[in-house]
Amino acid sequence: MPEKIRVLVNSKPMLVEHGSTVAVALALAGVPCRISVTGQPRGPLCGMGICYECRATINGVEHRRTCQIACCADMDIRTQ
Ligand code: FES
Repeated sequence: MPEKIRVLVNSKPMLVEHGSTVAVALALAGVPCRISVTGQPRGPLCGMGICYECRATINGVEHRRTCQIACCADMDIRTQ
């Protein structure tokens, strides 16, 4: 059985499987990665680090590409 790790998504704790990307954690949480300047919810598009649609704040660092970063224990993920 895969190991689960705890992360915080917008201050709410949740469990994800070890090796999951942050984009997966956000999808499981049911929240968009960010809201565009025109008010549109945004999420992963390319899934390979090119489009930047999946940006979120991770451990206080803004505009991280969530499709390229694996979740770590107690990671603080905030949608923008
Ligand atoms: S989904 Fe395109 S950069 Fe992350």
